[in-house]
Amino acid sequence: MWRGVIEEYRPFLPVTDKTPVVTLLEGGTPLVPAPLLAKSLNLDIELYLKFEGMNPTGSFKDRGMTMAITKAVEEGAKAVICGSTGNTSASAAAYSARAGLDCTVIVPSGMIAMGKLAQSLVHGARCLQIDGNFDAALRITREICDRYPVTLVNSLNPYRIEGQKSGAFEICDVLGRAPDYHAIPVGNAGNITAYWKGYKEYREAGRIDQLPKMIGFQAANSAPIVDGHPIEAPETIATAIRIGNPASWKQAEAARDESGGLIDKVTDEEILVAYNAMASRAGVFCEPASAASLAGVIKLGRAGYFPAGSTVVCVLTGHGLKDPARAIKESRPPASLPADTQAVVEAMGLS
Ligand code: F0G
Repeated sequence: MWRGVIEEYRPFLPVTDKTPVVTLLEGGTPLVPAPLLAKSLNLDIELYLKFEGMNPTGSFKDRGMTMAITKAVEEGAKAVICGSTGNTSASAAAYSARAGLDCTVIVPSGMIAMGKLAQSLVHGARCLQIDGNFDAALRITREICDRYPVTLVNSLNPYRIEGQKSGAFEICDVLGRAPDYHAIPVGNAGNITAYWKGYKEYREAGRIDQLPKMIGFQAANSAPIVDGHPIEAPETIATAIRIGNPASWKQAEAARDESGGLIDKVTDEEILVAYNAMASRAGVFCEPASAASLAGVIKLGRAGYFPAGSTVVCVLTGHGLKDPARAIKESRPPASLPADTQAVVEAMGLS
């Protein structure tokens, strides 16, 4: 049985025999080969989708949250807090419920997907919607943690990065090597930082020989790293990465530069093309922000960036069910019919 990322990768993580592990058995997510999707996009690459939507709360945040909440409990914390575009808050709420911690989440009012809001509520977090964006929520979170005995569980918390690096281990364990390219959406830039750390540690441990090139993608109007300056009012339909001033900005640049990769931006239109292609041709339903990774791969592929036959892993950071409103908006509406066999026959084009 899969035992969760702390037990599976214990030697790589800052835990002891006495650490009270808080887990929902996260990780162990599928690395789905997508040869037909690649072919349909005219990409001569070996494409894999690391489907992080299969984590317990439906996003990659659970890998980091098992570590952050475990360490918070070990250190005697009673309360945790995060600012979030929705997934961190969902994960923090679930792991806090499991650990019996008081959990406060600060989210931009009206700007998080419905499924994520539901999660923080159902797990009993104190959900505070502010009249401001993620960057404001994170600023307030940091100020509170400076002044009060509340533990911050955003990816500024180093234990979050420690847990999230396990995604890189899993990819290498399945492939038997690192991919040539690792494609990933970039928001607050914790995850690209974590994956790069994971790959480097696996190489130091002799588990892999080569490191991948890290290729990160921001949404076009929320692309501070690509544009080279913070964005005051970031905008994108990919609300998870609607972030103007990423906390791990420097670490993301280091991952890019050390690996010989790049960080680029993709438009909302490109994100939605990738989102729809993934759902309709690969059978994988991710949320819009996650599709930024494939959107970037399509963009670079068309520009001839990948040598033929390269192995490319796209991290799909969150599940499509998080944002059902977007899925419905992007799809053909259902037909409404009378309860009549002939009407169904005609709708099926069988008559
Ligand atoms: N994809 C999804 C689905 C996310 O929720 C996030 C970040 C990212 C990508 C970007 O990851 O921030 O490590 O660069 N969501 C955070 C949150 C900000 O609050 O849930 P990153």
